[in-house]
Amino acid sequence: MPRVRLPITTDRLVLRSLRPGDERHVFAYRSVPDVVRYIPGEPKTLEQVQDMVAERATAGRIEPSHPICTLAVELDGRVIGDVLLHLDGPDGHDGRQAEIGWVLAPDMQGMGYATEAAEALVRVAFDELGVHRVWAQLDGENDASARICERLGMRREAYFQQGSWFKGQWTDLAVYAVRADEWAARESKAGDH
Ligand SMILES: CC(C)(COP(=O)(O)OP(=O)(O)OC[C@H]1O[C@@H](n2cnc3c(N)ncnc32)[C@H](O)[C@@H]1OP(=O)(O)O)[C@@H](O)C(=O)NCCC(=O)NCCS
Repeated sequence: MPRVRLPITTDRLVLRSLRPGDERHVFAYRSVPDVVRYIPGEPKTLEQVQDMVAERATAGRIEPSHPICTLAVELDGRVIGDVLLHLDGPDGHDGRQAEIGWVLAPDMQGMGYATEAAEALVRVAFDELGVHRVWAQLDGENDASARICERLGMRREAYFQQGSWFKGQWTDLAVYAVRADEWAARESKAGDH
């Protein structure tokens, strides 16, 4: 599987590795209870954010030897969120599938940035990493994330009622996915316009 060089740029955003100096921006959203409501873990302390940035700052590329990749979403020099690409399998080779995820600072929501970042990541997963399927798992109540999946042409493949024990309670779990052939058809249709 080939590697992807960073950064990835979109019309408005730069997706790049986290790096020292990002801590203050990342803390500003990762410490907010509402932001982490549907993602694993409690609101982060500054120290935890410092560890997170230090641990994930090293990968200047996406490749199977780094199967879990968290990228900073940068807008005009500010890290406004992060996106995740998790290549399945112990070394990223097995299923050639990738899980994606996203988080955005509250004051940056409602402007399409998460969709724009996720779309770029999905494109890289299919076009450069050659994965067969991209998928996401969401809390059943996470409507904003479900809308992102739908905007990306992902299909709701499963809905597990109270299928997840999450943060001390049973919650619904939705699984969305798009296959490479579906993505190619979507891209080709978009190219026709
Ligand atoms: C999930 C999350 C990233 C969604 O944020 P979001 O701002 O709704 O998503 P986007 O940035 O893609 O913005 C899309 C919205 O902006 C609107 N928008 C405004 N201007 C836009 C533009 N220029 N381009 C595209 N969309 C635009 C869209 O209509 C859409 O609104 P709608 O969903 O009400 O129809 C955010 O709620 C979040 O960080 N939640 C906490 C973390 C989380 O739950 N992560 C997912 C775990 S699975």
